[in-house]
Amino acid sequence: MFNNKLSKILGSDRLKKNVPLAPHTTFGIGGSAQLFYKAKTSKELIKAIKAAHKLKIPYFILGGGSNILVADRGLAGLVVKVQSSKFKVQSYKIFAEAGVPLTKLVEIAQEHSLSGLECCIGIPGTVGGAVAGNAGAKNQWINQCIKSVTILDKSGKIINLKKDDCQFGYRSSCLRDNSSKIILKAIFELKRENPKIIKEKTNKFLEARSNQPKEKSAGSIFKNPANDSAGRLIDAAGLKGKRVGEAQISPQHANFIINLGRAKAKDVLALIKLAQGRVREKFGVELELEIQLIGFN
Ligand code: EPU
Repeated sequence: MFNNKLSKILGSDRLKKNVPLAPHTTFGIGGSAQLFYKAKTSKELIKAIKAAHKLKIPYFILGGGSNILVADRGLAGLVVKVQSSKFKVQSYKIFAEAGVPLTKLVEIAQEHSLSGLECCIGIPGTVGGAVAGNAGAKNQWINQCIKSVTILDKSGKIINLKKDDCQFGYRSSCLRDNSSKIILKAIFELKRENPKIIKEKTNKFLEARSNQPKEKSAGSIFKNPANDSAGRLIDAAGLKGKRVGEAQISPQHANFIINLGRAKAKDVLALIKLAQGRVREKFGVELELEIQLIGFN
């Protein structure tokens, strides 16, 4: 059985079986991972991926679980939770491993009077997830202060990508495909700034997020279509507050689906389809998912 071989490589005390994934997601939704491993260092992350490749085990890289919907039936194969969290500040640069929480990265920048990451204030998740999905707000994105990203590629090689190699776009990059390029660390190039100005910028971004719900969610469900807002369209389609099971289109902001307690992934999916259908019907606009669906057909 591949489990035995994998457990020999990763340690039988470290490789867990049938681990519920819901607590590892901000949605609080999803079935179990057949196999689950917490990679506490970059070395462990590389070891886990190489082992999965060698044993031909399908794998999924989990960061902060903030931008995903995991299927109710869970995931076959291995889930590797990235917890490598070393960082270093050198002059106006920050080196951060993929598992550093984004909130921590923002904090480090503030402590060192470094500006450029204010747009990431309040965004959950890890450095790896934020870089792959080019997190940000109000036309400012994390890629604007990225210098380079170190990845593990399919063949097991460690490669340094310059910012321009990453094909950053609105909530996207070539690193978003979970299995072919695994982010190990990133270097951020920031600007020294007066702490008062950093605080003002930070407050501006916090203010922009003040209409967002506090309940469990995966952040924005859809990307904004060009020159419009998914939230505005779903709201105008009359769907605010619509419920399926214990999932609800937030009465506060229509581009958020919230988990009222024990929502199932299938309930969320039903609301996603409903929103897409109504917005298409009413406005002729195709809403594209921002979150990733994991473990669905
Ligand atoms: N609106 C409505 N009804 C709603 C929600 C919004 O009419 O239910 C209207 C607002 O009144 C506003 C417009 O739609 O005129 C845009 O709404 P908002 O300012 O809330 O921003 P957004 O476009 O919905 C984007 C990002 C957020 C980011 C905020 C803050 C996307 C998909 N969303 O939201 O990012 O925090 O701007 O700047 O790009 C995320 O990606 O997960 C996320 C939360």
